[in-house]
Amino acid sequence: MSLIALSDVSKSYREPGGASLPVLRGVSLEIAAGEAVAIVGPSGCGKSTLLNVIGTLDTPDSGRYVLDGEEVSQCSAERLAALRGEKIGFIFQLHHLMPQCTALENVLLPTLALAARPDAARVRTRAAELLESVGLGGRLNGKPAELSGGERQRVAVVRALINEPRLILADEPTGALDEHNAESLTGLLLDLCRRSGATLVMVTHHPAQAARMDRTLRLHEGRLLKD
Ligand SMILES: Nc1ncnc2c1ncn2[C@@H]1O[C@H](COP(=O)(O)OP(=O)(O)OP(=O)(O)O)[C@@H](O)[C@H]1O
Ligand SMILES: [Mg+2]
Repeated sequence: MSLIALSDVSKSYREPGGASLPVLRGVSLEIAAGEAVAIVGPSGCGKSTLLNVIGTLDTPDSGRYVLDGEEVSQCSAERLAALRGEKIGFIFQLHHLMPQCTALENVLLPTLALAARPDAARVRTRAAELLESVGLGGRLNGKPAELSGGERQRVAVVRALINEPRLILADEPTGALDEHNAESLTGLLLDLCRRSGATLVMVTHHPAQAARMDRTLRLHEGRLLKD
């Protein structure tokens, strides 16, 4: 069974003048558990909108979305919030770390929202080990302002993984990095996802990063292009 199954999903935004702007036009796709998939396409074609729909942060106007066997449109707001906390890790172009928290505290934030709180000492050890595995063992107590751009994104990656989600959604996670850092961040993401069996869906403008995924979905004016 697919982890993600969208069929004929459409989404429009209302423009300030009241006109409707179609952004996704009948998108159907399936992504299997454990796959690493890139989403590419020109600016404004709907990549972030599609990723937000997959992440249940945005709701389609029509079509069907089944995530891990659950019909998303049938879920209550509470169920969706729980589902996101348990199953999905998000990484954005800019790290979105809390400036007042250390690297370690930032990584621990998503664990505070879980209904069944994991053992604090154990989860702290896991967070520290994960940070160490991405080369930040010496920076656990560093605040975001004291870290480099690449280091901040590595903290964001670890934060996305801390609850052991089945799905990692990354929207241009390497967009603000130089080529070397972009390369190593993508490698890190792929490695961590493969080791944990997590599915990775990554929006990117870098053909070299997309080529490292198992598969590439090409979006153009709200439609997926056939391979
Ligand atoms: N909340 C919103 N309200 C109105 N229009 C929106 C909203 N979000 C996105 N749009 C519009 O929908 C279209 C698709 O936006 P989206 O952010 O999905 O594109 P994208 O492919 O991610 O682009 P980029 O590569 O620049 O990030 C754009 O024309 C955008 O202006
Ligand atoms: Mg975008």
